[in-house]
Amino acid sequence: MHTQVAIIGAGPAGLLLSHLLHLDGIESVLLERQSRAHVEARIRAGVLEQGTVDLLTQTGLGDRLKREGLVHHGIELSFSGARHRIDMSELTGGRTITVYGQHEVVKDLISARLAAGGDIRFDIADVSLEGIDTDRPAVRFNEAGASREISCDFIGGCDGFHGICRQSVPAADLSLFERVYPFGWIGILVEAPPVSDELIYARHEDGFALFSMRSPQLARLYVQCDPQDDIADWPDERIWEALHRRLKSGGDRQLAEGPVLEKVIAAMRSFVAEPMRHGRLFLAGDAAHIVPPTGAKGMNLAIADVHVLSRALSSHFKRGASEGLENYSATCLRRVWKAQRFSWQMTSMLHKIPGGSPFEERVQFAELDHVTSSRAAARALAENYVGTPFE
Ligand code: PHB
Repeated sequence: MHTQVAIIGAGPAGLLLSHLLHLDGIESVLLERQSRAHVEARIRAGVLEQGTVDLLTQTGLGDRLKREGLVHHGIELSFSGARHRIDMSELTGGRTITVYGQHEVVKDLISARLAAGGDIRFDIADVSLEGIDTDRPAVRFNEAGASREISCDFIGGCDGFHGICRQSVPAADLSLFERVYPFGWIGILVEAPPVSDELIYARHEDGFALFSMRSPQLARLYVQCDPQDDIADWPDERIWEALHRRLKSGGDRQLAEGPVLEKVIAAMRSFVAEPMRHGRLFLAGDAAHIVPPTGAKGMNLAIADVHVLSRALSSHFKRGASEGLENYSATCLRRVWKAQRFSWQMTSMLHKIPGGSPFEERVQFAELDHVTSSRAAARALAENYVGTPFE
């Protein structure tokens, strides 16, 4: 069997890549290790940049997003007992962010692909890549107990940080850049009304806390924890106690408790693999880079990558132009590194750094003071938060 583009991984990157290629008349086969139910229930990030919303809307994926997404014009930063609003729209000429869960984007993409007759295969095992250095790469895998092989012109490596795509590139051909932070987040999804109409990022003397939401009835809350902590170290009461303390000066209303529907713990790292292309394998999203969640950039970067990749592949198939493919990695990395810088800045500014010196702490508070009192600094933060241009 042959296809033009074999795509590994049915997260936002892989699914959107197959959708964008389909709109340009390019066929793909998408292979996913997990079941459909699993990927549709995988709760992840929830903030879409303006450019992400525009792209999804322009490509026919905007209906439910427009109905159910929550458009936000600002965020709150809370520190030293007071809160400060960053009016993102006013600072960026009217741009906004939209709160809409990543798994909702995934559901919308899967239904659009299946409605268009797209070839998505779930529950696929033992994927391996062959001949990525040649003009005729192939993907081998196991489907319902049978070994299969698909030859293709290109491979989209969208299988995440732990996937096999990046691991298929010879180590000598990749440069890796990494920072692991000395803290993590414990997060809960709660059935409770929002404490505020906008997201609150709080720098408290006990550590960071974030109030976010998924809908007017569902709050998403995080607190800074030790990276070695286990979920069992954080019974609900401990999380609520931390949230009440850290968000006290944050909300418009009292923080309301409610049933905890889900609890997650996440380590925090920044990671980039360069280049994002090896032969006919193109890495996109978490397969190539990871950001700490503080800047809410992960899914947006994945979406920008596949936008660039789909255009490059279209130019190749339609006009035989190779320039877009040649430039893919450099084009994406420029944006990736800006998002890395921003995510690192937000992370460094907002967390209590274990063992941090009093000097570092004073600098953190000076930075918070700067971004909330200088229009130029607030504008730089807002510009990055709503998202830099895709290309
Ligand atoms: C979330 O809603 O899950 C969320 C929001 C903002 C962030 C990170 C996570 O910076």
